[in-house]
Amino acid sequence: MAKYYVTTPIYYVNDVPHIGHAYTTLAADVLARYKRMDSADVFFLTGTDEHGQKIERAAREKGLAPKELADRVVVRFKDLWEKMKITNDDFIRTTEPRHERVVQWLFKTLYDKGDIYLGTYEGLYCVGCETFYTKQQLEDGRCPVCKREPEMFSEPNFFFRLSKYQDALLEHYEKHPEFVKPRLRLNEVVSFVKQGLSDLSITRTGFKWGIPVPNEPEHVIYVWFDALINYISALGHPEEGGELYEKFWPADVHLIGKDILRHHAVYWPAFLIAAGLPLPKCVFAHGWWTVEGEKMSKTFGNVVDPHEMIDVYGLDQFRYFLLREVPFGMDGDFSKEAIKARINSELANDLGNLLGRAQGMCIKYFSGRLPAPGPTEGIDEALIEAAEEMDENIRTAMEDVAFQQALGALMGFVDRVNKYIDETAPWTLFREKKTDRLARVLYDVLESLRLIALHFAPFCPDSAQRIWEALGQDGEVCNARYGTHGKWGLLGTDVEIRRTPPLFPRIEQ
Ligand code: MSP
Repeated sequence: MAKYYVTTPIYYVNDVPHIGHAYTTLAADVLARYKRMDSADVFFLTGTDEHGQKIERAAREKGLAPKELADRVVVRFKDLWEKMKITNDDFIRTTEPRHERVVQWLFKTLYDKGDIYLGTYEGLYCVGCETFYTKQQLEDGRCPVCKREPEMFSEPNFFFRLSKYQDALLEHYEKHPEFVKPRLRLNEVVSFVKQGLSDLSITRTGFKWGIPVPNEPEHVIYVWFDALINYISALGHPEEGGELYEKFWPADVHLIGKDILRHHAVYWPAFLIAAGLPLPKCVFAHGWWTVEGEKMSKTFGNVVDPHEMIDVYGLDQFRYFLLREVPFGMDGDFSKEAIKARINSELANDLGNLLGRAQGMCIKYFSGRLPAPGPTEGIDEALIEAAEEMDENIRTAMEDVAFQQALGALMGFVDRVNKYIDETAPWTLFREKKTDRLARVLYDVLESLRLIALHFAPFCPDSAQRIWEALGQDGEVCNARYGTHGKWGLLGTDVEIRRTPPLFPRIEQ
């Protein structure tokens, strides 16, 4: 059985979750759900990044110990994932002993190999991003990402010999261009590495909130060295092996935002090469959301709260919008108008209406029970072909992590089925008492809806389940498998169709 290991970044606990966090986690959830339905053995990991100066400061401001703050905020993340029906298999916190021991082990392993040495760090550090910058990287003297002014640092630090791995990294990008996606991000990474890599400071002495360096308790491990290792520590200890580690490492895809590309596509593979561990197969960097055209920030007071969006628009509507609105990998703009437009046109008008029309006709013409359908005609064969095309296009899109394209293929088929109804005009067949033909047309519509439910399930699981049940299908649609349930013609001819409430009510205001 194929295996599939997908991860999200682990989120900082200095603040509560917003739409940016929801976005990556949702994307990972859709991939995980899709791969499970595609019969893969899936491991889906998310978690929280709980160490570092940023958390320590945030806790101090609230009069809490860092761990107390983490314990409070972690609940907010877990609650949101539950509300969003996220199907992660594990949730790792970097303060857990199972994580800390692997971090210390990797530190020691690299130290023993001579890839970590003690030196003095002098330079600029952005506390907001927990990242070092050179003067050239700053914009107007400020951090290029969060625009805060970086702080000057000078202290004894342990360094990782990143410079030694420049050639190995370039060779890896060359041999495995699929390692960083989209392509544009690969180009960015390659040119960054070609400019030359300096060794990376991976410890701090100025504060306490971190994993101690083995045998050097006044040094704590840099939060990024600590955090990246979660992708392995959640599976187990590499030296001890263990079932999960053996089965799932290396990861198939690390989903991340574009701002943390360098950490994932340069530092992380360098640590792994140094340790002699296999590299993840792909790092996929998505774009950022702005809100009504503005950068989202607490200062502007425009941070989008996922809870509110779900309460106002509905969970599946929110899930659908995030992955349908922009190609995954590009930046997008979040606005109430945009989410309303998507819901009303695609979900309510196209898909919701299709189900409503199908139910209405089955009930009106046959009291909800179709008689045996007549033979297929050319127009039916064309519909069946369109269903097969949808299946192929969705598969290709999902292999490319192209959610928008996958949903485009699905909605294209929904349109196709609506047109099929218009073209076959069941109302005329009814008037003319062409019962066999009418039963064939309605069967084809219902069967199309069954396939739509199957492909919709990873994105909008609750609505897919409602379609599934409306078609009289047993069990959970997410337990269906594309390999066995994805073929045309599996809908029994004896289903009973009843009226159900509208799938997606229109949003009026
Ligand atoms: N803790 C690190 C990740 C360590 S992974 C080993 C971190 N955490 S974070 O909480 O600040 O951010 C997590 C993710 O949220 C990042 O992938 C980031 O890109 C994403 N987003 C934050 N704001 C965003 C938007 N406005 N839009 C989309 N995603 C954004 O970084």
